[in-house]
Amino acid sequence: MEAAPSPAPATAPIIAFDKVVAGYTPSLTILNATTLDARAGEITLLIGPNGAGKSTVLKTLFGILTPTSGEVRFEGACVNGVPPRELLARGIAFVPQGRNLFGSLSVRHNLELGGFTLPRRELPSRIDEVLARFPRIRERLDNQASTMSGGEQKQLEVGRALLLRPRVLLIDEPSIGLSPKLVQDVMTLLRALADAGTTVLMVEQNVRTALKYADRALVLEMGRLALDRPAATLLDDPDLNRLFLGGHARPAA
Ligand SMILES: Nc1ncnc2c1ncn2[C@@H]1O[C@H](COP(=O)(O)OP(=O)(O)OP(=O)(O)O)[C@@H](O)[C@H]1O
Ligand SMILES: [Mg+2]
Repeated sequence: MEAAPSPAPATAPIIAFDKVVAGYTPSLTILNATTLDARAGEITLLIGPNGAGKSTVLKTLFGILTPTSGEVRFEGACVNGVPPRELLARGIAFVPQGRNLFGSLSVRHNLELGGFTLPRRELPSRIDEVLARFPRIRERLDNQASTMSGGEQKQLEVGRALLLRPRVLLIDEPSIGLSPKLVQDVMTLLRALADAGTTVLMVEQNVRTALKYADRALVLEMGRLALDRPAATLLDDPDLNRLFLGGHARPAA
């Protein structure tokens, strides 16, 4: 009898949370023994209800919060308590939820701020590299950042994060306030980055669209992982509907 083909080896997790407990005050924990991982070169989508702790996962991973117990691992090494600046140097970049630009500074100046840890002589070529991906930003370099549209501003934030050529990009709700076309542009960009080897951990409320671009989806509920599925299968999963979309199946988009 022929042996069944062995499954393809799973990519090793580049990011792992192992029973992580974290929060903003000692009396109230937001992550409650959260265990999850993200694999190298994939887009992992983190979804869940408001207040579930999605942004807190990203902030804990980026060293803004320190776990009170459990372990956050990056490439197998514990990074509990490692400050953001060192994580940046190790290859993790973070685009937080909301607007994160200096509106009164020029587009160019905002971009340059992403490269503050780079040797000065490298900055121009890195900026050129980023601008090659974002022609709209190149056209607006000398404008005040606040004069750009919401979509352009989000592109600028992503571009700024890419200046350091991160191996891992953490991005929190990139589609907020963007038109459907711009949402697709941002998702397409993230997909291209992942296909070129960047690991993307993305929080997104625009679940149906994001699932089309992601490899894997994790559902967080009250600071715990409630579901972990290949993105392609999740839209049809009754558990997702129960946990996240209001308890009943919706027609496919
Ligand atoms: N800086 C803070 N100080 C105190 N509590 C906070 C702070 N930031 C978030 N929280 C609380 O932590 C919990 C989880 O917040 P978090 O921002 O991680 O949720 P989320 O899943 O990202 O939600 P959303 O979908 O609304 O962005 C919420 O109850 C929130 O009120
Ligand atoms: Mg959030």
